[in-house]
Amino acid sequence: MTKRVISAMRATGGVHVGNYYGAIIQFQQLQALSNECFYFVADLHALTEVAGVIDIDSVSVEVAKHYLACLLGPPNSILYRQSDVPEVSQMAVLLGNIVSLGRLRTCTTFKDRVRNRGLAEGEVSYGLLGYPVLMSADILSVRADCVPVGQDQIQHVEMTRDFARAFNRTFGRDVFTIPEVNLQDAVRVPGIDGSEKMGKSDGNTIRLLDDPESVRSKILGIPTQAEPGGDMTKGTRALYKLMELCSPKEIYEQYVERYQRQDGKFFGEMKRRLAEDVVALLQPIQDRYRVLRDDEVREVLASGSRTVRQIAAEVLDDMCSAIGLTSGNRGV
Ligand code: TRP
Repeated sequence: MTKRVISAMRATGGVHVGNYYGAIIQFQQLQALSNECFYFVADLHALTEVAGVIDIDSVSVEVAKHYLACLLGPPNSILYRQSDVPEVSQMAVLLGNIVSLGRLRTCTTFKDRVRNRGLAEGEVSYGLLGYPVLMSADILSVRADCVPVGQDQIQHVEMTRDFARAFNRTFGRDVFTIPEVNLQDAVRVPGIDGSEKMGKSDGNTIRLLDDPESVRSKILGIPTQAEPGGDMTKGTRALYKLMELCSPKEIYEQYVERYQRQDGKFFGEMKRRLAEDVVALLQPIQDRYRVLRDDEVREVLASGSRTVRQIAAEVLDDMCSAIGLTSGNRGV
């Protein structure tokens, strides 16, 4: 049975190999199975990171180009930008009333971010605390039933399910579909510094647009142990994991076997092989990216948002009438 799928990437720019294996490949698979897919650039969610004027518009277009370069978008799926659908923000305001502060405070991503920024809880923005409410509005605005996300976002989808149920219960009507998480094949990609996760804020990424020379020097710089054998260090594990993802299976298995045999010092050679496989993986994406013009990308986003607004306006209308708000979205 085909599903209505929704997912997003935040408009923070610098889409990387971690996003590719952690999210984009799943998006492509769901699209290939002829589900009805909605993929968007979450520019409003990116604002939680912002402390002044930024050119979020160009960043959004850049992220949209990454989607298109990865073959996500028309005619196979709907691609849009979050802020082009104002109904989503309106829905987030309404949902805010059925969400408890206690629940939002338990959110791991929230706690991590507060900790990473070294802030006291009282100094954190309402936007950051309300991140899962806005994300719920995204998902519920199109009555999606399947949300492909990485491990770190599961809790947000679980919250969405609870908020949807709470809304339906509170207002005595099944306004919302209860969405499911789709975790299939989500993988955690290690960083080139050997840490467990490749992440933009950790500065340990290989970007999809990195040129071959930077890919090579980044991979050669992975901090591996002196020689194979024994328990792997984090860096060596990262090298193996990246190779498992990016190189042909038999090549990966050869190196696993050589590790076990302690077959001399081969990490340099292994890194060069991995680098060439990553360069080859990125090549077609970069070729497609380069020929995309800003105006055509903007047209794709505009057309996507028209489609989504029609759906979201109906859902918002249902929400409003369930609550007893008469204006809803109808021709005010
Ligand atoms: N929070 C997600 C992330 O950081 C992005 C996102 C925003 C999202 N809204 C969404 C993902 C709705 C799935 C569905 O990766």
